[in-house]
Amino acid sequence: MARIAGGLGTSHVPMIGRTIAANKQQEVSFKPFFDAYGPVHEWLANAKPDVAIVFYNDHGLNFALDNMPTFAIGAADSYDNADEGWGPPEPRSFRGAPALSWHLVQSLVADEFDISVCREMLFDHAGITALDLLFPGQDIPVATIPIVINAVQPPLPTPLRCYKLGQAIGRAIRRHASDLKVLVVGSGGLSHELGEFGKINEPFDRMTMEKIVAAPEDLTRYTNDEIVDLAGAQGLELMTWIAMRGAVEGAVNVVSSIYHAPISHTGGAMMLIEPTAKG
Ligand code: DHB
Ligand code: FE
Repeated sequence: MARIAGGLGTSHVPMIGRTIAANKQQEVSFKPFFDAYGPVHEWLANAKPDVAIVFYNDHGLNFALDNMPTFAIGAADSYDNADEGWGPPEPRSFRGAPALSWHLVQSLVADEFDISVCREMLFDHAGITALDLLFPGQDIPVATIPIVINAVQPPLPTPLRCYKLGQAIGRAIRRHASDLKVLVVGSGGLSHELGEFGKINEPFDRMTMEKIVAAPEDLTRYTNDEIVDLAGAQGLELMTWIAMRGAVEGAVNVVSSIYHAPISHTGGAMMLIEPTAKG
């Protein structure tokens, strides 16, 4: 059966992608953030995942306010990039895993998650930055499946719903008749509000990271409004970490973790976890 090798939560501000593209990771104020990826790269060299399932929030590329799915999954052969927040990017294309996407879709709908299915989808900076952090300066060696969570327009899915979505994805992966090794990524956060520079809540972010490891259910008790009050409107990107943690069930070891604030307008963070019991 397929298995989940690990889960990564990461910030995705375009400045991170831009720094990687310029190969200036050692020159910027948030160098410690990049340094914390060293153990992640070692882990990847051993774990060799085949597929990355990337939970993120679409930043207006695929869905505008007139057509906003709560949850959407890509089921395409490949995903092209588009705006990454810094003007026209170089054209890139990311390999999909459509057979696994369709398995997830069928399993999710049977599990009462009526997810939107996208035969075409653009990858924005949220997905791409995470992939470039994992594989800097390389062609991305894993197949990708984007899963978008509405973190923009009410009514928003609750933290509990996002956690359950992650759990349903985890069940679907563990039921897939293959030897695929899957890395689940949650790309977002942590606290920030783009209209309000400096809306960073470090104690809340640090508490969140501890809970992701040891007591993720505690995070599902927050309402969306409470998260906005505590962590800013874009603090809702935390949903991507919560979904990731739902997929990586049970006790976990932390392979690497960092909190660095600010990175651009955000409380920047990264955490790689792996299941304590290796399946
Ligand atoms: C920034 C943060 C984001 O989450 C994003 O999607 C774009 C920009 C920022 O802080 O610059
Ligand atoms: Fe964002």
